[in-house]
Order: sequence, then structure tokens, then C-alpha cells
Amino acid sequence: MKIIFAFCLLFVGAYCAAIFDGQLNDSWTLFKRVHKKEYATIEEETARQTIWETNVAKIRKHNLEYDLGLHTYYMKINHFGDLTHEEFKKSMNGFKVNANVDSSKNDRHIFLAPSNVAIPDTIDWRKEGYVTPVKDQGQCGSCWAFSATGSLEGQHFASTKQLVSLSEQQLVDCSTKFGNQGCGGGLMNNAFEYIKQNNGIDTEKSYPYTASDGKCRFKPESVGATDVGYIYIKEQNETDLTLALATIGPIAVAIDASHDSFQFYGGGIYNEPACSSSPDALDHGVLAVGYGNDGGKHPTDYYIVKNSWSEGWGDAGYLKMMRNYQNQCGIATMASYPLV
Ligand SMILES: *[C@@H]1O[C@H](CO)[C@@H](O)[C@H](O)[C@H]1NC(C)=O
Ligand SMILES: *[C@@H]1O[C@H](CO)[C@@H](O)[C@H](O)[C@H]1NC(C)=O
Repeated sequence: MKIIFAFCLLFVGAYCAAIFDGQLNDSWTLFKRVHKKEYATIEEETARQTIWETNVAKIRKHNLEYDLGLHTYYMKINHFGDLTHEEFKKSMNGFKVNANVDSSKNDRHIFLAPSNVAIPDTIDWRKEGYVTPVKDQGQCGSCWAFSATGSLEGQHFASTKQLVSLSEQQLVDCSTKFGNQGCGGGLMNNAFEYIKQNNGIDTEKSYPYTASDGKCRFKPESVGATDVGYIYIKEQNETDLTLALATIGPIAVAIDASHDSFQFYGGGIYNEPACSSSPDALDHGVLAVGYGNDGGKHPTDYYIVKNSWSEGWGDAGYLKMMRNYQNQCGIATMASYPLV
């Protein structure tokens, strides 16, 4: 009796495992089709499928915990699904604090938070016309350029009521003398300083993005916006960051995006306890475009953040990050915006 029972269990187990594999094979085929993935050899495909399966397992586990109320955000597979976390970090981030000397000390001023100003409970600059559609940096560490154009697009709109998409490629190709390293990384503040001294940045349309380092092709007749330096928010001060967001517009921020939870963020309020707020940990430039509170059972303050990994990543290209939560992931460590 005992033996038969054990045999049945084993049989059921093996049968289930086989079905499970088959389902994953179909999903893998779909994943390749949807994301237009092609691999040169069978060996490479096998390796990629193994990485993808590991990622799928990690995401499933997280989402089961999310369903149990243990997380404030869920994860999803996306076009980074066949990359290990190490590969991903190498090609997708690119905010570099240490590699660059701040080239612009003379042109920067601190944000003086207005006192006694009543600010709204929520703000979303997308609804006010300040924000261009989500862009895609591709496999190039140019996040800093997207963060810089995003903030300048907003300030240019504030002063002209024209929303003009601006050229990240120009910043990648032309701002090396200001301490930036193209696809190898850079700083938003160096970009603002370059734009000032260059007397402008071209439109996206006239100087399109290629996701690779190239020769500078700036054309003065195609300038879409300019700035006269930049304002930085007092380091680590979320009160001032919120005030700047409420009264100025989208703010360029740097964050610690080095955790695999970030690679596959899908929606909800991102909360990564392993995040650091130290300047050394900042590795990704993004754009804060608003803030709010989810009004849930445990009301949570958040920032609305625009990323540059296409609409396929996160919540249509955006994420919500914890606000007033000890400067989680360093979002208030190095925030700034250009002066137009
Ligand atoms: C899944 O695909 C692999 C490789 O193509 C194959 O060896 C395996 O038999 C497939 N599994 C199922 C259950 O179809
Ligand atoms: C943030 O800065 C304001 C002044 O702008 C100051 O009153 C406040 O104490 C600071 N908060 C923290 C946490 O440092």
C-alpha cells in the first residue's frame, strides 16, 4: 500500500513538471516573437532561455508575495528578460558621480524653497503638458542625457508654452569636454552647463537618437531650447524636492537603480529596502514629473518618475517611488533643474 502511494505521488510530480516545462517553452517562443529576439546559435539561445527562466521564477515569486500583501509593487517580464542582472546594469545605467568633475560650479545656485506656500497634495506635470512621450535609451549608458533633456523640455515649456522634444544624441556626441562620456555615462548638471556654453541644444527631430557614440553634428539653426545654468536642490532634502516639484516642474534626479527589482518593476510603489541614498550609489538618471499619496490603508507618499527604457518597461515607461521615506534610493541626493 505504502509503495503504491509513493509511486503515485512520484508519477503525479513528474507529470506536472513536464506540463510546466511545455508551458514555459511556449512562453519563451512568445517572448522571442514579441521582443524580436534572435540568437546566432543554439547554444546562445539555450543560455538565454535559462537566464529568462531564472528571471521568470524570480518575478513569479515576488508577485505571489505581492498578492499576499507583502510588497507595494509588482514585477513583470519585459524586453530585459533574457539579460542577467550584471549584463543589464552594464548597458542600461550610466549616471557617473565619481568619473566626472563638476564642470559647472560657477553656474549653479541652490533652490530657495518658498516659505509659507500652499502646495497641492498631488501634482502630475504630464497633465499640464510639460512632458514628452517616454523615450528609449537602448543599449547605451546615456540615461543622464534623457534626464537632462526631460527637465529642460519642461522648463522650456514653462517659459514658451511649446513642448519641444530635445536631442539626447547631441549631449552624447558633444558634451565630452564638460566631463560626460557619451554612452559611457555622464551627469545631468554637466549637460546643463554644456547647453549653456553651447548656446543651445538641437531638437530631437533635427538630431535624432542613435544609441551610440558619434561625431558632434550640432547645427545652430536647429536649436530647440537653451539654458543659463542650473539650480540644485539641497542634498537629501525631500521637503525641498517636493516644493521644487510643486512650484517649478519636472526635476532631474539620480537614483540607485542597481537592484534586480528595478530591472523588472511592473507597477505600484517601488520600495527596495536594499537601496542606498549615498552619492556613490547613484547610478541612474531619471526625471521626477510629480508626486502624490496612494490614500491606501497605510497611506504612502510617492514620486512619479519618468524612465528612458521605452513604454515597455514599468508602468508604461514610468514608476512610482517612495517619498518621505528616508530619501529611499537617493532620489533627493542630487536633484536639479536648468534655469531657462
Ligand atoms: C522545451 O524545449 C527544449 C529545447 O527546445 C526541449 O528540449 C524540451 O523537450 C521542451 N520541453 C517540452 C516539455 O516541450
Ligand atoms: C530641508 O530644508 C529646509 C529649508 O529649505 C529646512 O527647513 C529643513 O529642516 C530641511 N529638512 C531636513 C530633513 O534637512
